[in-house]
Amino acid sequence: MALAIFFFSSKFISFKIKKVNKMQKELIKWYQQNKRDFPWRKDQDPYHIWISEIMLQQTTTETVIPYYERFLEKFSTIEALASASLEEVYKMWEGLGYYRRAKHLHESAQIIVEKYQGKFPNEYNDILSLKGIGEYTAGAISSIAYGKQVPAVDGNVLRIISRYYLLKENIAETKVQKKIYQIVQELILNQDASAFNQGMMDLGATICKPVHPLCSRCPIQKECLAFKNKQMDVLPINIKKIKKMYPKKAFFQAAEAQGPTDHSNKTISINDLRDYSPRIFFIINCKPNPPFRRNTARSGARKQAERAPGLRFATRTLRIRRPSALVFISN
Ligand code: ADE
Repeated sequence: MALAIFFFSSKFISFKIKKVNKMQKELIKWYQQNKRDFPWRKDQDPYHIWISEIMLQQTTTETVIPYYERFLEKFSTIEALASASLEEVYKMWEGLGYYRRAKHLHESAQIIVEKYQGKFPNEYNDILSLKGIGEYTAGAISSIAYGKQVPAVDGNVLRIISRYYLLKENIAETKVQKKIYQIVQELILNQDASAFNQGMMDLGATICKPVHPLCSRCPIQKECLAFKNKQMDVLPINIKKIKKMYPKKAFFQAAEAQGPTDHSNKTISINDLRDYSPRIFFIINCKPNPPFRRNTARSGARKQAERAPGLRFATRTLRIRRPSALVFISN
């Protein structure tokens, strides 16, 4: 038994290493040749990287560019930011949204002046302890500003890794996110972590997009298991997002289902999906049930239905116009 385990695990590890060596090199090479031109990529000043990463939280790169430039013109050093009034900081943030980020930047600048003599800390845990900085941002700053081999795992990375390794687990779960973090940790080892992490950001934003990924232009397509198995439109699986997208009382028609029982063309309530664990459904159709239909005309439920992209016309036609490539896996 022990031998079997050893044999199995050593085989598994060698398979992984082989794979692991391939993708990061291709990704880094692609990033170096195709990186997007952003003002925060002109230098590696930790202060600049910090400001950009905070601004880029929940905000698009196009929106951030002018704010980033104006902010650094006004507050050219950490000391300048720390000694400004909060009102002045808010003024420079006006229109960018999520104002708590500005407050946290201001507070952190004061902490850096007091605790680190105005020099942005270079230890991962010190960076993580600053206000408004979570694991992703600490990883991005550590790798981009200091070249530290730390992952920066966000939705893009969860999606790319899920697809590349054909992971059919629910990425909304912490344990799955931890697993992906570990995979990235292995991938990044002894590599240019800054290029790797930024390569993942660019790949996720321009090629390995949530819908209609541009696989023909992907630098890691050759070894991508989702591409090999034509599952790009189906992965990643994010149950939380699917539940948010569809109204609670929606019914799904399963076009195809994996597992011992064929559930094709069965109508399944969103609440019953748990009973089908752990099979995967390609949802081709969805319609609100009668009470939902009656209530939707004027109620908030209608708004909820309209927010879901696939259901834009559902209250009128009771059909998703375009067959959805969504996959449902319940657990
Ligand atoms: N999103 C978050 N951080 C980013 C970065 N450094 N470059 C591009 N997009 C990003």
